[in-house]
Amino acid sequence: MENGEMEPHVLIFPFPAQGHVNSMLKLAELLTLSGLRITFLNILRIHQKLTLHTDIQSRFSRFPNFQFQTITDGLDNRLIDKFSDLIDSLKSITMPLLKQMLLSGEFGPTPTCIILDGLFNFIVDVDAHPNIPVFSFRTISACSFSAYSFVPKLIEDGQLPIKGEEDMDRIISGMGGMENVLRCRDLPSFCRLEDPFDPGLQHGVTQTIQSFKSRALIFNTFNDLEGPILSSLRSRCSNIYAIGPLHAHLKTRLSGEISPASSVSSNGLWEVDRSCLAWLDDHPPKSVIYVSFGSVVVIGDDQFREFWHGLVNSGKRFLWVMRPNSLAGKDGVPADLKEKTNERGYIVDWAPQEEVLAHKAIGAFLTHSGWNSTLESIVAGVPMICWPQFADQQTNSRYVSDVWKIGLDMKDVCNRETVTKMVNDVMENRKNELMGSVIEMAESAITSVEEGGSSYCDLERMINDIRLLCK
Ligand code: UDX
Repeated sequence: MENGEMEPHVLIFPFPAQGHVNSMLKLAELLTLSGLRITFLNILRIHQKLTLHTDIQSRFSRFPNFQFQTITDGLDNRLIDKFSDLIDSLKSITMPLLKQMLLSGEFGPTPTCIILDGLFNFIVDVDAHPNIPVFSFRTISACSFSAYSFVPKLIEDGQLPIKGEEDMDRIISGMGGMENVLRCRDLPSFCRLEDPFDPGLQHGVTQTIQSFKSRALIFNTFNDLEGPILSSLRSRCSNIYAIGPLHAHLKTRLSGEISPASSVSSNGLWEVDRSCLAWLDDHPPKSVIYVSFGSVVVIGDDQFREFWHGLVNSGKRFLWVMRPNSLAGKDGVPADLKEKTNERGYIVDWAPQEEVLAHKAIGAFLTHSGWNSTLESIVAGVPMICWPQFADQQTNSRYVSDVWKIGLDMKDVCNRETVTKMVNDVMENRKNELMGSVIEMAESAITSVEEGGSSYCDLERMINDIRLLCK
């Protein structure tokens, strides 16, 4: 380093939720491997769970230029009912504390760049640190980010909010880069709120508008998947890096090659039950459907039973992730369904998802269309049945089914007949067609993160730009 130059030091701060911490830790590991100094700032209670259930301390201890730091979310382990309580606390307690920590040099050498989770953008003014440029990392797809960004215009045009009596299949117009793709039902879930001043809708909009104000936008996606949307977004934001799929990108940089079955370390907040891999070993290729609704979705007893009967009636075997407390009011599978479940399926609290999807026995993924799960399914070449629940998931599932044609969308429907039909369609009737397109997309994903690929080059450009900030 030349005289007077600062050492590049990136502070990475994810929103305290599984899907966010998972992908931002992968980003952190990629940047650490490139030789940058990294501080990974985590909400204390999340860090405690991570260290309890994973080997991250020892995984990262091999990097002398990497440190974990923690900060409170201000809730003192209080259970909260509403998402807005967490937001209020992060806004009033965590963010002022972060500023204080930056000023008092608690992170060692002052960070030269902050990579802030885009979800924080609505609680922190991105200009709040005039001397430290802020890059905004979005854990959602470019298509759902783009949909979020059009919400103010759609309100102005009178197309939003969606009213009670609305035809949910009405095609939405006036969305550059995604013309005639989305119907009302495919817009982010907060658009279903009838009041344009509802805080939920306002949050969704503000976080996106703020993202455009940051120095750069980082997406966990790749050009062959979301090229037209990225181009359209690039005309509205001068600097966008598309560096995903991050889990595949990390694997190539760690090993020099991607082997679908190579084991991956967990960044999970729950203890991984690896026994399901041995269960899968006993099943023929492409015969099992994997079911997981991610880290936040909670389903009701009625919905559980519709899925359960739909799966059992399809005649296929299933591996189902049922997080503790993810079945409302119930502790695990209802007693009357236990015996049949043991015959036809296998249930775990938390699975090694990337490894499960790469297992030869898996033929399809019934998913809530969270963005990490979608990317993991694409890279593993597994077609999806989408049952989106909130936020970005509604838009992701539309793209999976109607644009990329790598799955089917059962949004807003939850009955056993549909589940059975979709399972049979994905695993038999339309298997070749869906498999063909998802495998093609998997190959593009892998090419994008290999040397010379679009995501590889964007990551190199980003690392270089971060270094240049110190000159
Ligand atoms: C939500 C959003 O829907 C998502 O789009 C956004 O990016 C983050 O917030 P979440 O419900 O957590 O995400 O879903 P998803 O993005 O799919 O992330 C879940 C992660 O947990 C995946 O990386 C998945 O591999 C992992 N997982 C899930 C496991 O490791 N084991 C499991 O059993 C289930």
